[in-house]
Amino acid sequence: MRARLGMHTLTDGRGLLFGGDYNPEQWPEEVWAEDVELMRAAGVNLVTVGVFSWARIEPEPGARDFGWLDRVLDLLGSAGIAVDLATPTASPPPWLGHRWPETLPVDESGHRLWYGSRNQFCPSSPVYRERALAIVTDLADRYAGHPALALWHVGNEYGQICHCDESAAAFRTWLQDRHGDLDALNEAWGTTFWSQRYSDWAEIIPPRHAPYMINPTQRLDWQRFCSDALLAHYQAERDILRERTPGTPVTTNFMGLFKPVDYWSWAGEEDIVSNDWYPDPADPLSPARAALTHDLMRGLGQGRPWLLMEQATNGVNWRPHNLPKPPGQFRLESLQAVARGADGLCYFQWRASRFGAERFHAAMVPHAGPDTRLHAEVRAHGQELRKLAPVAGEPVPAQVAMVFDWASWWALEERGRPSDRLNAPDQLLSYYLPFWERGVSVDLVPPSAELGGYPLVVVPNLYLLSDQDAAALTAYVHGGGVLMVGPFSGIVDPRAHVRTGRFPAPLREVLGASGEEWLPAPEDRPVRCRWSGGAEFAAHTWTELIAAEGAEAVAEFAEGDLAGHPAVLRHRAGQGVAWYVATMPEPVALGALAGRMLADAGVRGVLPDLPPGVEAVRRGDVLFLLNHGTATVRMPIPHAADDLLTGSPVTDHVTLTPRAVAALRPRVQPHFGDPLA
Ligand code: GLA
Repeated sequence: MRARLGMHTLTDGRGLLFGGDYNPEQWPEEVWAEDVELMRAAGVNLVTVGVFSWARIEPEPGARDFGWLDRVLDLLGSAGIAVDLATPTASPPPWLGHRWPETLPVDESGHRLWYGSRNQFCPSSPVYRERALAIVTDLADRYAGHPALALWHVGNEYGQICHCDESAAAFRTWLQDRHGDLDALNEAWGTTFWSQRYSDWAEIIPPRHAPYMINPTQRLDWQRFCSDALLAHYQAERDILRERTPGTPVTTNFMGLFKPVDYWSWAGEEDIVSNDWYPDPADPLSPARAALTHDLMRGLGQGRPWLLMEQATNGVNWRPHNLPKPPGQFRLESLQAVARGADGLCYFQWRASRFGAERFHAAMVPHAGPDTRLHAEVRAHGQELRKLAPVAGEPVPAQVAMVFDWASWWALEERGRPSDRLNAPDQLLSYYLPFWERGVSVDLVPPSAELGGYPLVVVPNLYLLSDQDAAALTAYVHGGGVLMVGPFSGIVDPRAHVRTGRFPAPLREVLGASGEEWLPAPEDRPVRCRWSGGAEFAAHTWTELIAAEGAEAVAEFAEGDLAGHPAVLRHRAGQGVAWYVATMPEPVALGALAGRMLADAGVRGVLPDLPPGVEAVRRGDVLFLLNHGTATVRMPIPHAADDLLTGSPVTDHVTLTPRAVAALRPRVQPHFGDPLA
């Protein structure tokens, strides 16, 4: 049996990892020596090499040029810098598309996408597969046993979708596995609607550009298939690497809440979860969005440390208007990831490119060179990360679970629903925010997760819910859990068929309530609601006509046709409590609700009364305080601690200027956030 490979394989003896994508093929060899010298000075201990090197390694079909890569790995290895070696299969050389145009992806309208950029491959193309696996095999054979090789990086940011005939054939095979025969497929897809009945497998195609709305179950199955087809390719590469280098962990870089790929089904297929994260400096919700994404990565790894594979030291170049990051910003973002379970902090990329599409993307060494404000910050950050070595491998304890599901996301966001203003990631973020603001750590989990250990489970939206998952949520509450369910949940089954009867049918009993109409609200004004105590709050976008069936109405709608009908319900069921929210409350009202649910569940944040913009999270026994706000804050702390970043003792309070971070390790037990603290 294969020994468990994980982050510890990389961090043992190294501490936290620090580095970035290194593309030496863009530079003459003289520059490489300077690179390595600068990397050492900056405390770089891991670099990703070869992500876009297919054409350099295989300049023409079947040729191999590994000499340059040998020299790169030897140089890095002799400097003690570990290599995350990429399989170069994300960007095939022009010769592949030129000689085998069937490897090029086709869009929904049947147009082929050409080479000249990157990512131009069809995940179901046998020729692409054969050529990709051949180079992966040779790469693995070449570098198996190389002392610098520490990690494999398969492909890059998987997400390609292709609608070609080869994809159609692969889709049919996938559908045969899922549905068995055509009758079952016709039943699942509801093809009696609009005369869509299929009489031969050959008639079935991907959801290509069509005159009007496409069958939603066809589209749902297609999204499942696309994620699985990419996964199959990833697995094929990974298997080659595992066979040849059994002691080297394998990862592929995720992209946060990235819709095309169901990361729950992928994460178990890698040794280490890694993610690319590019917060938008113009987005005021960026810190909370980042925290949510980091928690998702931790959840994908079932609590194990993860690797921040790519982030930017400064502005990116792919938004229309790329705001820069002020001094101290990338450090704050990087330390936020550490606080939320990352054991490695890497950047795209080491040295800014002089040419190519990303020539204006930030890097660790900017065009202006190493003698710059930015590179000085990079060096300082790399060095200070050594002080955080004690947190490597440490868990982030959480008592709240938040459920998120890709299939439900796909199904929810199909055309032809009551409102496309209700979407899954926004619902997730709006429910996550109040917990983040209160310093309450949250684990992101799939619907099938074991929930028993969490006092509070939040389901912002599960539009698609299987009978089994609904039964598990019900049993969780009966067993003593506190459950919160957001609107438009439990509406369809896994075939995306609407569950008839009053909604949410499979949760009706546990919620002690049921509804009969969805009533999207006019967009130009809020919906007035009233707590049972009399105070009012605003909601927006979505309302439901719902009736209590044993639940207590904690809030009701205060105007219009719904006046007097429940807006928020709370139901004691078995040993537990279930909440249902039949609208989209404004943030302050959701905060009040989160407060009540936390009280029901007996959960509290790591520190009380956090100032706005201050994030507090505990990792191991270290309390991280991060000031994302624009004001300096002075915060009392309950017990004496040492700040790992400054090395100074902290007795009764900390002062945090904007973008400052403290990493407080208590002098004595208990931990911050423990019930007795
Ligand atoms: C992604 C890619 C990198 C690079 C960066 C730019 O993360 O993996 O190759 O294109 O974006 O932000």
